[in-house]
Amino acid sequence: MKTDLRVLLTGGAGYIGSHTAVELMRAGSDVVIADNLVNSCMSVLPRIEELGGRPVTFYNIDVCDKDALDDLFTKEHIDAVIHFAGLKCVPESVKLPTLYYRNNLTSTINLLERMAEHDVRYIVFSSSATVYGESDTMPLREDMPTGACTNPYGMTKHMSEVIIRDTAKADERLGAVLLRYFNPIGADESGRIGEDPQGIPNNLLPYVAQFATGRREKLFVNGNDYPTRDGTCIRDYIHVTDLAIAHVKALDYIIGKSGCEVFNIGTGNGYSVLEVIDAFSKACGKELKYEFAPRRAGDIPTCYADPGKAERLLGWKAERDIKRMCEDTWRWQFNNPMGYEK
Ligand code: UD1
Repeated sequence: MKTDLRVLLTGGAGYIGSHTAVELMRAGSDVVIADNLVNSCMSVLPRIEELGGRPVTFYNIDVCDKDALDDLFTKEHIDAVIHFAGLKCVPESVKLPTLYYRNNLTSTINLLERMAEHDVRYIVFSSSATVYGESDTMPLREDMPTGACTNPYGMTKHMSEVIIRDTAKADERLGAVLLRYFNPIGADESGRIGEDPQGIPNNLLPYVAQFATGRREKLFVNGNDYPTRDGTCIRDYIHVTDLAIAHVKALDYIIGKSGCEVFNIGTGNGYSVLEVIDAFSKACGKELKYEFAPRRAGDIPTCYADPGKAERLLGWKAERDIKRMCEDTWRWQFNNPMGYEK
């Protein structure tokens, strides 16, 4: 394992970024975070330091800002970058497509250009299983077609992948890893950091967790007539700590290499919405009463990964099961019912 790296995390104050910062520090690296706090807050930083046992260098900047990023790379020695920063709300991206394309693509391009100028050679990109679009074939493998995404958010992930891959082709110094996340849930087992969405959560787990504390009045299951074992959608939920460790392994893999590799990061197991609610009920010790509601536009029945390539090339495999994912989500939610104090 290559330790003692100095790694820049764009969006490092967010849900996945904060957990990755902690795992990098636990593995012996130093972390610099660049975040504009549009969907996160400063109060996560001391908690990252507490769990990682090292100080964090923080820049409150927008990764789209050329001069600000240039200034960061001039002041800091950086060995590698993990690029998390981006807007990620699917329905918002449908309403405000140019905001999503401008923000998510400008940040990727700006980062690659500043990295080239400052001779920073390694990047890991936060991509998503959404790049596979509506595939009928499961499990999803990295060599299957991508790009037929159903919303602008997904397109920005696909287009960022294309931009990074082409840049790695053109610049033989660059080594890039694209990680296609399935459905990240859970929290650090300490319960000190976790997912803290603004407003009403769009995603299943943060919504269920807030319902369990009484912060949400009703729990709706969207669609019970899908062609699945219980009629509800099946997804590949992955513990955020396993996902964070995948980034550490991806860096370890790419340092010293050039080119671009892509990996699915999932467990390979699918759980239905009802199975997740049942697992969460057990974790929080309460019966969670739900109601069936219409299907959500754009949802596909089933989505799960073939994570074999990550196991073969990165030596990474998810270790935490759905029980653990729900228990850790609950510990975070119970200890921090209103999320971070802002
Ligand atoms: C969503 C995004 C995906 C993104 C991922 C991040 C969409 C269409 N896709 O995936 O691009 O990368 O989050 O984790 O938004 N559900 C309910 N009740 C709820 C909330 C959700 O039944 O209150 C159901 C949904 O209909 C779906 C399942 O739970 O069947 C999972 O939903 P969600 O957590 O939003 O994840 P995805 O839709 O898979």
